[in-house]
Amino acid sequence: MKGIWHGAGRRIHMQEVGTRDGLQIEETFVPTDEKIALVNALSRAGLAKIEVTAFVSPKAIPALRDAEVVLREIERAPGVVYSALVPNVRGAERAIDARADELNLVMSASESHNLANLRMTRGQSFAALSEVNAIARSAGVAVNVSLSCAFGCPIEGDVPEATVLGWCERFVGELGARGVTLCDTTGMAYPGQVAALVRAFRARWPATELTLHFHNTRGMGLANVLAAIDAGAERFDASLGGLGGCPYAPGASGNVCSEEIVHALELMGYDTGVDLAALIDASRRLPALIGHDTPSQIVKAGRRLDLHPLPADFEATRERALARDQ
Ligand code: COA
Ligand code: ZN
Repeated sequence: MKGIWHGAGRRIHMQEVGTRDGLQIEETFVPTDEKIALVNALSRAGLAKIEVTAFVSPKAIPALRDAEVVLREIERAPGVVYSALVPNVRGAERAIDARADELNLVMSASESHNLANLRMTRGQSFAALSEVNAIARSAGVAVNVSLSCAFGCPIEGDVPEATVLGWCERFVGELGARGVTLCDTTGMAYPGQVAALVRAFRARWPATELTLHFHNTRGMGLANVLAAIDAGAERFDASLGGLGGCPYAPGASGNVCSEEIVHALELMGYDTGVDLAALIDASRRLPALIGHDTPSQIVKAGRRLDLHPLPADFEATRERALARDQ
């Protein structure tokens, strides 16, 4: 391997979570047809997977109360996996009815955050998700498990690696989940920790789809992505505009920003399969939909080689400067 700095065309799969993780925390309800249009634009941008919405209680997350209509009415691009977050059996039934390709089951590696977010102990969540898994299996729908707070909990602090791997074992070993997402729900992950956890996971479950889900809460998002790639990861969740955050995690803020990660990885020679210009266009729609600017540095600054016109007085300045040599 040539090291992380030279991608040498290595494929990195980008998974968009903006219409789920991104919109779930927004106060403004984005109209259903605008959500559908946004997912359609993302579908055309070449993402590997789109987490379209969440089939959760509309009281808990009112922003996503239109989950059925959105998932049913989007245009589906061949090769893109359309996923939906599901906390319980009720959610699974709704998501399967609305033709989800994949159910993203969610629980927390931390007991306190699981209770705050899902109102269950982890043991109760696992039992409920075992049932969801059986329903998905009989419907022929794939299952991914997202483990929140895998890199630390805002209430409990560090979550031991053995605890995280123990839950992975139950979902992969016992339930046969196709994939696991290790979520850094509140931006507590740091590169050395990420590399160790990714290596440990990869060594134990080389055939399981592993996704890393980072939040940029403390500015370590891109560093963590690179540490994960160095340790063998190749799938990342990211959110358009860098929106996102869990309403039940104190201090949560945006996911790593899709266009920033794609911009950086493409410069480094990785193949994300994503049309960056299309992604940026989609991101530019967000402020009008949510009523405020997004954290996206790429929308603010442009791509590295998006150059600027000469200043109006450039010629005069040059002539004055050259005249000083004569
Ligand atoms: N879809 C729609 N409605 C649901 C639902 C689902 N998947 N699960 C529960 N509900 C409804 C119930 O019908 C009930 O409605 P009612 O008050 O009108 O009777 C209400 O939600 C409470 O249901 P209950 O089974 O008692 O669950 P709860 O109050 O313990 O809530 C969750 C548990 C997980 C369903 C709820 O907290 C939730 O959806 N949280 C969302 C968490 C989330 O998305 N976090 C961010 C992403 S990680
Ligand atoms: Zn998240």
